[in-house]
Amino acid sequence: MAHTTTAPETETDSTAIWLPEDLQQPLETMSRGQQIGNWLINPCKNYLIPASWLQRLLKSSQSELLTETFRRPGSWRAMEILYRKDAPFDLLDRQALLDNPISRASRNRLQTVTQILIDLIQACHSDGPVILMGVGAGPGRHVQTAISRLQLSAAEVHAHLIDLDDDAFEYGQQLAEQLGISDCISFLQGDAREIQEVLPDVKPNIVKLIGLIEYLNDQQLHELLTALHTVMVPGGYLVTHGILDPWNGAPSLKRIFGLQHTRRSGEDVRQILETVGFQVTDQVIEPMGIYPIVTGVKPAVD
Ligand SMILES: C[S@@+](CC[C@H](N)C(=O)[O-])C[C@H]1O[C@@H](n2cnc3c(N)ncnc32)[C@H](O)[C@@H]1O
Repeated sequence: MAHTTTAPETETDSTAIWLPEDLQQPLETMSRGQQIGNWLINPCKNYLIPASWLQRLLKSSQSELLTETFRRPGSWRAMEILYRKDAPFDLLDRQALLDNPISRASRNRLQTVTQILIDLIQACHSDGPVILMGVGAGPGRHVQTAISRLQLSAAEVHAHLIDLDDDAFEYGQQLAEQLGISDCISFLQGDAREIQEVLPDVKPNIVKLIGLIEYLNDQQLHELLTALHTVMVPGGYLVTHGILDPWNGAPSLKRIFGLQHTRRSGEDVRQILETVGFQVTDQVIEPMGIYPIVTGVKPAVD
């Protein structure tokens, strides 16, 4: 597997968007002390303390992540705060940003998926120009980071970043400018389930579907995957993931923030991908055990 580790040269100023220096950071796990803390605090958060008390307590924090999660649970902005991992403002922020298993797992997912995208772009590149599609992309951090590490020209790689909501696009465009890849990136507002109408002439080699399917039920997911399978080139790859709850964090996310995920194992994701016509080529679970990351291919001959 090819690894690229050097961050592109960027001017560092106070408005610069955070970029990872190195994509080979050790993935996050939980120390024994953190595991014990988690198992002690969890029953209180999940069942014992009234949700209204917990909400009042968490709203008293200076935490940017908690404020954003109350505003829009699971938003792209909340993901960006998690990825950036600034020094915490206070103890509650520390818990949310650093100690919380799903925060750790999301950073692991970012690093793992970005490396998978780099490898796939390199693999597809030998056959000609590579077209990527980021679905539910927000600002497109995974795709943009991967492209920037490969230093390919706009003739060699182009990414279409699609989201229902256009509120991440200005930030995403700033990120592209900072990375020097603006001419490789297009943003598009639209529903990915209607991809044939939204982007009729684009046939992607690589589709990235991260941070979205956990909000869809099986029928919605099936509809989305079918639409994507239809537009992809034969031999094209799709990267997505399931979500599990080995740290029993789901009850508190639901009662405090109203945030609910559709749980799916790697095997569940494999089955639904196969139903639509993909073949699974790779399945890896990040070390927190929350996100199984699954890569499928649209077979060259159906
Ligand atoms: C949690 S954000 C994930 C952002 C980014 N992919 C990440 O993982 O950091 C999920 C995004 O999916 C978008 N979304 C939800 N349903 C969609 C659909 N049917 N088509 C396109 N985008 C969708 C939302 O607007 C939101 O920006």
